Amino acid sequence: MNKNILITGGAGFIGSHVVRLFVNNYPDYNIINLDSLTYAGNLKNLTDIEGKSNYKFIKADICDYDSIKSIIINNEITHVIHLAAESHVDRSIKDPFSFAQTNIMGTLSLLQAAKEYWNGDFSNKLFYHISTDEVYGSLGESGFFTEETKYDPHSPYSASKASSDHFVRAFGDTYGLPVILSNCSNNYGPYQFPEKLIPLFINNIVNNKPLPVYGKGENVRDWLYVVDHARAIDTIFHKGKLKETYNIGGFNEWKNIDLIKVLIKVADRLLGREEGTSEKLISYVQDRAGHDLRYAIDATKIKDELEWEPSLQFEEGIEKTIQWYLENKEWLENITSGDYQKYYSEMYQK
Ligand code: NAD
Ligand code: DAU
Repeated sequence: MNKNILITGGAGFIGSHVVRLFVNNYPDYNIINLDSLTYAGNLKNLTDIEGKSNYKFIKADICDYDSIKSIIINNEITHVIHLAAESHVDRSIKDPFSFAQTNIMGTLSLLQAAKEYWNGDFSNKLFYHISTDEVYGSLGESGFFTEETKYDPHSPYSASKASSDHFVRAFGDTYGLPVILSNCSNNYGPYQFPEKLIPLFINNIVNNKPLPVYGKGENVRDWLYVVDHARAIDTIFHKGKLKETYNIGGFNEWKNIDLIKVLIKVADRLLGREEGTSEKLISYVQDRAGHDLRYAIDATKIKDELEWEPSLQFEEGIEKTIQWYLENKEWLENITSGDYQKYYSEMYQK
C-alpha cells in the first residue's frame, strides 16, 4: 500500500539516519523530511540522498499549525515519524521555554493536524512518536527502565518530552489516533552535534582542549549506535502494535569516566599519539544541575516481540564513530564556527 511518510527533524542527528534508511530501503515510499533547520539541523547530513526521487525536503516549524496542516494535506501524508525536538539537556536548563514550545506545542500541533486531515479514517495511517528514556527519571545502582516504569522526569528537557508522550497517548485514547511510541537510550555515531558528550570530547581531544567532565564522572548512560536506533524505528514502524510503547537500548552501560578513557585510548591510537597522551586533558568541572545518576533500558520487549537487537558491539561502534569524525573535519568545522563558539564559551568558560 502506498505510504507518504512525514519524518520530522530529519536534518538532525538521529532523523538523518532514519531518513537515509527509509529513502534507501523503501523506494516505493515517499519520504518528506520536515525540519526548521535550527542550529542542530544540517542538510549536509543528507547530501548522499538529496537527489533521490522518493525524497523531498520541506523547511517548516512544527509549531506553526497552519503550515503543518497544509503540508500534511498537500502531501497526502499517511504516516508521521516524529523526531523534531530540542534535544540537549544543558540547553534546556538555560532556556526551558523553547523546549516547552517545540517539544510540547510542536508535538500537539502535529497531532492535531494529522487528526484533522485523517478525519476518523485511520486505515493505513500511523503517528509514531520518538521519545527518550530520560522520561523515566534516574535509576540507582541497579534495576532497569521497562515500558511500565512510572514517569519521573527531572530536567526541563525530559519534562517536555514526558509531556509530549502524554499528549500522544491522549490522542490515541481520546480520538482513536493510531499511535506508537518508543523511548530510546543515549545514541552515538556520525552526524551528532558536538554539544553532546561523545562528539564534543572527540573534537576536544583532536584539538587538545580540556575535556569537561561533570561532577566526578560517575553518572552512567546506556549507549546505542545511532544506525541501530534507526533500524529499531524501521522495525517498530513496520511490526509494532498500535498504542504500544517500545523501549530501545543497547544493554551497554558505561560510567562516564570509563567511557571517556576508552574514547581517549582509541582516539590517541587513531591520531598516532602515544597511548594515554590525552588523559591530561580530563578536567573535572561543576556538575550539571539535576544530573540523573543512571539510565539503563530493559529492551526485552522489542527483542522478544519484534525480533530487534543491536547489531554493533560498542568497541566497533566507537572506533567507527571516532574514525568518521576524523575523516569529516569539514563537516565539523562548518558547525563549530559562528554561533557554536558563543555557546561553547558561555557553557564552559564561565
Ligand atoms: P537533534 O537535536 O540532533 O535534531 C533535532 C532536529 O529537529 C534538528 O534537525 C532541528 O532542526 C529539528 N527541529 C528542532 N525544532 C524544530 C521545530 N520547531 N520544527 C521543525 N524542526 C525542528 O536531535 P536528535 O539527537 O537527533 O534527537 C531526535 C529525537 O530523538 C528527539 O525527539 C530526541 O528527544 C529523541 N532522542 C534522542 C536521543 C539521543 O541520544 N540523541 C535518545 C533518545 C531519544
Ligand atoms: O538518554 C537519552 C538522551 O541522551 C536523549 O534523550 C538526549 O537528547 C541526549 O542529549 C542524551 O542526554 P544526556 O544528557 O545523557 O547526553 P549528554 O551527551 O549531554 O551527556 C551524557 C553524559 O555526559 C551525562 O551524564 C552528562 C555528561 N557530560 C556531558 C557533557 C556535554 C559531561 O560530563 N560533560 C559534558 O561536557
